[in-house]
Amino acid sequence: MKRVLLFLALLLLAAFAQAFTFVQISDTHITGAGSHEDNLRAIIGEINAMSPPPAFVVCTGDMTETGRPPDMEKYREIISSFKMPLYNVLGNHETKWTNLGKETMRVFFERNPYYSFDYEGMHFVAMDSSMWQQHHGLLDRSQLSWLKTDLDKASRDTPSVLFYHHCPGFIPNEPELLQTIKPYNVRLILVGHGHTFKTWRRNGLLFQECKGGMNNQGGYRILDVSEGEIRSYTKLVGKDKAMDAVIPLTNARNPVTLYSPQTGKWIEGKVQIRASVMPGEGRKLEYAIDGDWKPLPAMTSAVYGAAADFGGTRGWHLISIRATDPDGMEWHESAWVRIGGKTREAWRINTSGGVQRAVTIFGDRVYFGTLGGDVYCLEAETGKEVWRHNVGSDVISGVALDGSRIYLGTADGRIMGLDAFTGEQKWFFQTAGPIQGTPVVGDGRVFAGSGEAAFYALDAETGDLVWKYPMDRFTQVQPMLLDGVVYFGAWDKYFYALNASDGSLKWKTLIGINFFYSTASSDPVTDGKSIVANVTRYKPEDPDVYCLDANTGDVIWKIRQPENSDCGFNSPCLIGDKVYSLAGNGVVLCMRMKDGSEMWRKSTGFSLLGGKPVSADGKLYIPGLRGNVACMDAKSGEKLWTYSLGSGYLFGSAAVWEDLVIVPSCEGNVTALRK
Ligand SMILES: [Fe+2]
Repeated sequence: MKRVLLFLALLLLAAFAQAFTFVQISDTHITGAGSHEDNLRAIIGEINAMSPPPAFVVCTGDMTETGRPPDMEKYREIISSFKMPLYNVLGNHETKWTNLGKETMRVFFERNPYYSFDYEGMHFVAMDSSMWQQHHGLLDRSQLSWLKTDLDKASRDTPSVLFYHHCPGFIPNEPELLQTIKPYNVRLILVGHGHTFKTWRRNGLLFQECKGGMNNQGGYRILDVSEGEIRSYTKLVGKDKAMDAVIPLTNARNPVTLYSPQTGKWIEGKVQIRASVMPGEGRKLEYAIDGDWKPLPAMTSAVYGAAADFGGTRGWHLISIRATDPDGMEWHESAWVRIGGKTREAWRINTSGGVQRAVTIFGDRVYFGTLGGDVYCLEAETGKEVWRHNVGSDVISGVALDGSRIYLGTADGRIMGLDAFTGEQKWFFQTAGPIQGTPVVGDGRVFAGSGEAAFYALDAETGDLVWKYPMDRFTQVQPMLLDGVVYFGAWDKYFYALNASDGSLKWKTLIGINFFYSTASSDPVTDGKSIVANVTRYKPEDPDVYCLDANTGDVIWKIRQPENSDCGFNSPCLIGDKVYSLAGNGVVLCMRMKDGSEMWRKSTGFSLLGGKPVSADGKLYIPGLRGNVACMDAKSGEKLWTYSLGSGYLFGSAAVWEDLVIVPSCEGNVTALRK
């Protein structure tokens, strides 16, 4: 008996040895001028005074308001008073407006944007849901591949906690995340973004959002880990902590299996859904196509099924089933299928990571880079890989071509020249900031902006520096080369014309209104005499399309897209003497280049953001924010067809090759559609 008691006591001691507390803070939104500093200092004061002290703190993003160095420096100064380690991840406010983007993590915290660590038998994974230049959330495919390897190393049974910025509803590839972590014991996902305390119950785990550190008196979460569970408390500065949830450290088995349709299936006619579900008291079953939930009836005691009509856009759609338990736990399974797309879709390839910029055609080859750091060359006709070259850093930039060479930029600041036929690296030039825009090549030179806030001209043959133009802020657009002058808009609100020969300033024109609302997002177009660039509005009455004289920089005309949505985040397109601008609400505006007068205005029917149309044979091909592509008649604006490519953001423009439109997606695929 004594022995048994001793054993039990030792077991208890072992369990208590694992007990510890950690804390989540989020959305502190510090600025260089000290905004919200008092809130964060009050939070730090309380956390430092906790007894026993927390083992560590995690911050789920939006540490700062803009992510710019003055904000980051202030944040780093304030958090230096934490008495325990602090693990940060990036929020949308760290990446949308900054010269450093995701490189912020390396520069300010000497970390990758995603990483993991272990503590007392638990595994913690800091993930990066931010996107370069965007406020949207996404867990890039390359990161999900890393996550799988990382969780494998920690072992399948190890209780794990993930943390990142964007809450459910803001990450379109959440089904892929749930699929990736399914074999492992992920118990809790801590998020921010919504600035409030909130909980979602999915697949046996909890997503928990934290109140913003900037809000009211400031909030945070206290997480006590002990004997087989995590106790999650909400806490407001100056108030008592409040019990919020108890999370067991072992997962229950997902009771649902979607066995038809399977991912990738082509479906014509009705969508036949079949799922098996383990019995459960009070469990409610539903299915959805793209999140439109409907009851899923029982066919037998364990098999549920439905035959669903689908009248939406042809193409890729998400079929999901959901079992909801009486305690609110939702069990999901889903599959991506193609509905009615057989005549439109010629080929699709899955890439190593998101493709955020344009694909470029040269001969019968397609070139692009991925956020997984791969540069691809494909056969345009089949999508078959010709070569792939990993450059060891995210490629946000598109690819520029001049015959036998391709040129691109990397997140770690390199401008590179590769052999177009083999992918062999010919040279690279290291700059001091990320290359976020596609280079342009001409007159034997490569021109590109760097996040160090400088614009570079390099020798296209050797990569040697020809000249460097320092700026106050950086540029992320693809510059334009015309008659020995290089043109681009920048985050300092100016539109620039630099002499390509020596980098001297030909002119610069102020067309942005303030820092958040500038020329920085739009690639310019030209008819050889004048230039059109879009600008984001500051006030609703501000112009959002500018036409400048290429020679003098004088404003020839400026217009405000008449609906309550602006063109600034999209790039224009030019066909002959007509210019086309895209507004965020889905409207395409056709104007005369000479005076900006409107010819027609038509809606694609879906949101447009970060897109740039391409044209061929009198048609426009327009990429939408949420995976839709529209083909419009350029003369009339008549919508000829639409196709859904799935959930991925389409931020890069498509390319046309013979009868194909080849479309890149941030989801991590490239798809060829028949024109
Ligand atoms: Fe925030």
